[in-house]
Amino acid sequence: MKNIKLGVNIDHIATVRNARGGEHPNIICAAKIVEASGADQLTVHVREDRRHINEHDLENILKVINIPLNLEIAANKEMVKIANKYKPSSVCFVPEKRQEITTEGGLDIIKNYDNLKDIINNLYDDIDVAFFIDPDNEQLKASYELGVKTVELHTGMYANAYFENTSSNFELDKLKKTASLGEKINVKCAAGHGLNFDNVSNVASIPHISELNIGHFLVGDAIFNGLENSIKKMINILKESVK
Ligand code: PXP
Repeated sequence: MKNIKLGVNIDHIATVRNARGGEHPNIICAAKIVEASGADQLTVHVREDRRHINEHDLENILKVINIPLNLEIAANKEMVKIANKYKPSSVCFVPEKRQEITTEGGLDIIKNYDNLKDIINNLYDDIDVAFFIDPDNEQLKASYELGVKTVELHTGMYANAYFENTSSNFELDKLKKTASLGEKINVKCAAGHGLNFDNVSNVASIPHISELNIGHFLVGDAIFNGLENSIKKMINILKESVK
C-alpha cells in the first residue's frame, strides 16, 4: 500500500480575516488545528499582493508548528528573499498573475528556463524546491533538467472536468502519464488544486503521486463541519483511496 501525504493550505482562513482586518479568524489557531488533525504538512501562499497570507503570518506559523511548512511563491527575487529569510521546509514555485482569482495554470518551465535556473540557484540549499506544473511530460522533463526533484501537478483541469461531468478521464490520464514519467526519472510527484471529497480519490490512487495539497474546499467545508473534522474526513478518504 502506498503512502499519501496531505498538505493543508490555510490561505483562505486569512482571506476571511482580511475581509475585516484584525486577527479573526486566527491563523495561528488554524495552523495548530491542521497539525493536531493529522495533516502531514501546512501549505501557505504568500502572494505578491498579500491578499491572504503575509510574512508576519509566515513567521508566526513557523514558530508554532512542528510539521513541515510548504511555501508557495512566485518565481521572482523578492519572493526568494522571503523564503531565504524564513526558511520553510520546501518552496513550491507557482505562476502568478495579479488579476487572477487563483493559480490558473502551471509554471511554464520551458519558456522560463533561464530565469528559473537563476531563481533556484539563489534559494538556500536546505530548502526543498518544487515546481507547480501542468500534467505535461515536456514540462516535467524541463524541471528534471533543472535538477528539481519534486513537481506538483496542477489538478485544476481534472477538477473542472469532473465537476462539469465532461472529459475527466482524459484529464486524469494526463496526470497518470506525467506521474508515471516522474517515477521513471525519479522526480517526486505531488498534486493539487480544486480537490474535494468527491474527486480526490481518482488522483490519490494514481501510483507515484505521494502528496496532495488541498485548501479552498477544506476551508469551505470547515465552515459547516469544523476544520478538524474536515481534515480528518479527507485523511480517511485518502487512506481508503490507496488501499
Ligand atoms: N497547490 C498549489 C500549488 C496551489 O497554488 C493551490 C492554490 O493556492 C493549491 C495547491 C490548493 O488549491 P485549492 O485551494 O483549490 O485546494
